[in-house]
Amino acid sequence: MRIVLYRGDGVIEPWEREFSAVMPGVETVTWKEGQLLPSCDYAVLWNPAPGLLAQLDEVKAIFLMGAGVDAVLKFGEALPRVPLVRLGDAGMGVQMAEYVAHAVLRYFRRFDEYEQQARHGAWNPLPQHAKEHFTIGVMGLGRLGMPVVEAMRHFGFPVRGWSRSPKDLPGVQTFAGMEALGDFLHGIRVLVCMLPLTQETTNLLDRHNLGRLASGAYLINVSRGAILNEPDLMTLIRSGQIAGATLDVFRHEPLPAPHPFWNEPRITLTPHISALTMRHDAVRQIVAKVQALENGDTVTDLVDRQLGY
Ligand code: GLV
Repeated sequence: MRIVLYRGDGVIEPWEREFSAVMPGVETVTWKEGQLLPSCDYAVLWNPAPGLLAQLDEVKAIFLMGAGVDAVLKFGEALPRVPLVRLGDAGMGVQMAEYVAHAVLRYFRRFDEYEQQARHGAWNPLPQHAKEHFTIGVMGLGRLGMPVVEAMRHFGFPVRGWSRSPKDLPGVQTFAGMEALGDFLHGIRVLVCMLPLTQETTNLLDRHNLGRLASGAYLINVSRGAILNEPDLMTLIRSGQIAGATLDVFRHEPLPAPHPFWNEPRITLTPHISALTMRHDAVRQIVAKVQALENGDTVTDLVDRQLGY
């Protein structure tokens, strides 16, 4: 069996080692711009180049080394019509839950304000926020959204969830579809964005929709930057309507040097690290799916090109 491994960042060697360890006998090949690819059974990719995609019409499936599929689906018709499989949880769900829990608790327990106080040598206990007024709204209830919902429930926050199709989750107030978006957002104190980037979700978090949150709300974005209208967030933060944001993803990454987010103390930034691909888990998951396909079985996490995720 021959598998082509490719990453836009060129870091392929550790992936080769991992595949050889889990799948003895597999022949992994790499590809460079301008090369002719030998015939391969499968492709395992992240941020692929168009020149490689054009040579993948004959593979049995393309696996992605991550959860988000926007960087591949953007190729549209140029993407080979073979099954496309994203990474399932593979260690990312717990990382998302850790990241979001940290950000929510920081706001709920007012650690952001205590950080500021400490910088000025101020000893000033603040009144506690009431949990019943700290509704957490999670947008996107998929593989990575659900561990976040569970973590929030564990701490006893009121939790709302919003998804494209209706979901019934114990202890969670659920909303589905664009027609329910207004009701979902109304009065939320912390909005957590876990949505895939699609045509429908691009710029979804704009002035209008963010303006529906509770006054003094917080935003946490851990999915894709283009879902957020960045100038609108700045306006709402400056007016005090939004009290703070924790952002892991941006429209342009790395976030450009002159971007106003860098100098806004109410915005906490991280460099797209909320859920890193765990190579060990990812390779084992991909190999198990390759074996399932070879046996004629179906696999989970197939991308629906129509839906865009
Ligand atoms: C990371 O952003 C991923 O989609 O896996």
